[in-house]
Amino acid sequence: MSQEFTDYVKSSFGPKATPKARRILTSLIQHIHDFTRENHITVDEWMFGVDFINRIGQMSDARRNEGILVSDVVGLEALVDTLTHASDSVGHTSSAIIGPFYRDNSPEYPYGGSIIQKEVGGEKTWVSGIVTDTNGKPLAGAKIEVWHCAPNGLYEQQDPDQPDYNLRGTFYADEQGKYAFIGLRPTAYPIPYDGPAGDLLQMMDRHPMRPGHIHWRVSHPEFHTLITQIYDRDCKYTKDDSVFAVKDDIIVDFKKVASDDKELGDKGVQNRLDYDIVLTLEEEIQKTRASVVAKHKSIEEELEAHHKAIADKIAKLKA
Ligand SMILES: [Fe+2]
Repeated sequence: MSQEFTDYVKSSFGPKATPKARRILTSLIQHIHDFTRENHITVDEWMFGVDFINRIGQMSDARRNEGILVSDVVGLEALVDTLTHASDSVGHTSSAIIGPFYRDNSPEYPYGGSIIQKEVGGEKTWVSGIVTDTNGKPLAGAKIEVWHCAPNGLYEQQDPDQPDYNLRGTFYADEQGKYAFIGLRPTAYPIPYDGPAGDLLQMMDRHPMRPGHIHWRVSHPEFHTLITQIYDRDCKYTKDDSVFAVKDDIIVDFKKVASDDKELGDKGVQNRLDYDIVLTLEEEIQKTRASVVAKHKSIEEELEAHHKAIADKIAKLKA
């Protein structure tokens, strides 16, 4: 079927479709039709795709988000993250994908508290720094949520041997914007590959490994919430991430702590990570994103006009 058929499907929207729905779904229909024509998709192949999508839903629950995993292995979440922040002003900490393992309401700990609820091995690490705005002003009260997996490569919700909310915590920056916590030096792990995401990796002959990383969600009233990860420079998968989420400026260096270290020697930590975080005002982010919004608006207006012209034509034919 030709482009004429695709145009016919695209013109089927009713007048109550919102401008945004019209823009995005029109584009989606065009791309899906083009993809189908280019690859001469057969009924069997289409059915394989339908089953694949159904399996994504069937495998997902509160503890597993297969939709995100599938997005990740084809680089979609990394692309969306980059596009979302493409117009943001520079000077703040780079974002990264949130991934499928975030949980809100993690336990709150005081400055320097440990997120290790149960000994699971690994190297204890002191992570500390300061949260500021882009002018270097400390952001007292910034909320810092962190989470990472255990050395066995599993997040607590995947692992019945870990306590609820193990290796997750919420901290608040003090009056000088400072925060600190004890966690583990992060371990490389395979993303779950016993479902559709794993099938895709196998089809592409790829490994499922992610580099050792710590996830962050940092928020403060009036500031744009930062979702990011930090990556261990010494991990070999930092150069070969199965979900394409590494950015150069969020690769960090863990430093060994000497046993006679005056500041950290008695905390039982083997590493330290100094990591400062910079947030941008939400207002600034919205200002810089205005050009993207304007571009979308002009496409939406064009589509509205096009749809109206077709509707008028049909009305005349019927008259
Ligand atoms: Fe992760």
